[in-house]
Amino acid sequence: MSSIIHLRDLHYTYPDGREALRGLSLDVQRHESVALLGPNGAGKSTVLLHLNGLLQGRGEIEVCGLPVRKGNFHVLRQKVGLAFQNPEDQLFMPTVLEDVAFGPMNAGLEQGEVLERCHRALESVGLVGFEERPTHGLSLGEKKRVALATVLVMDCEVLALDEPTSGLDPRGKGEIFTLLQSLPVTRLIATHHLDLAAALCDRCVILDEGRVVAHGESSLVLEDHALLRKHGLLPP
Ligand SMILES: Nc1ncnc2c1ncn2[C@@H]1O[C@H](COP(=O)(O)OP(=O)(O)OP(=O)(O)O)[C@@H](O)[C@H]1O
Ligand SMILES: [Mg+2]
Repeated sequence: MSSIIHLRDLHYTYPDGREALRGLSLDVQRHESVALLGPNGAGKSTVLLHLNGLLQGRGEIEVCGLPVRKGNFHVLRQKVGLAFQNPEDQLFMPTVLEDVAFGPMNAGLEQGEVLERCHRALESVGLVGFEERPTHGLSLGEKKRVALATVLVMDCEVLALDEPTSGLDPRGKGEIFTLLQSLPVTRLIATHHLDLAAALCDRCVILDEGRVVAHGESSLVLEDHALLRKHGLLPP
């Protein structure tokens, strides 16, 4: 079976010279749910930003069978839903509904379909009734949920989620777990929440200093406390 996400020897250096990815290789199979773990600065967000071409490093990178390069960006952005770590980077319209509707409107869907999808997406993140609220006036956890709704509304094949549960209260976190568990799509989730990895992910990949340093079945990786401690995922 060919991978739906295929990264081979990926290198990326930010314009200020910081080398964030140093030969990273990773494969994710269709419908797999994979946790991307690693300490602050390991390169998790940088990897996710490569999946639909927002960042372009050096190396082999294919998603949904397409090389991630300029001519494919339009198609890839319909197939790969990327939820940023910071919801402020995702939300830019005056109201919640306008933010959630932006993607499907842009994709040319007709208004009835757009509204129906928006309702479904807002319902799934527990924000029905928030449609007319100004996005900038929401709490961090509410913004995180709206940002997730802007991704879910696109019905993508691949979800790349950067810290989807950070800033959520325990109930909200539980609701997002249940929601993500129920989605029949491929998921690559950067997180510091090991309980999320245990509950939602078949496999864990640990990054450190821009490379994959360990990977394996979640149950095995998560019980290797020495490994987790070594890479800052458990307190010393
Ligand atoms: N815009 C940027 N300009 C320069 N360096 C950056 C930029 N964004 C990230 N970096 C650097 O690249 C490296 C990887 O950062 P990245 O944000 O991918 O880490 P991360 O694993 O997502 O960390 P965190 O757990 O804190 O979210 C870090 O050394 C970081 O300082
Ligand atoms: Mg990050």
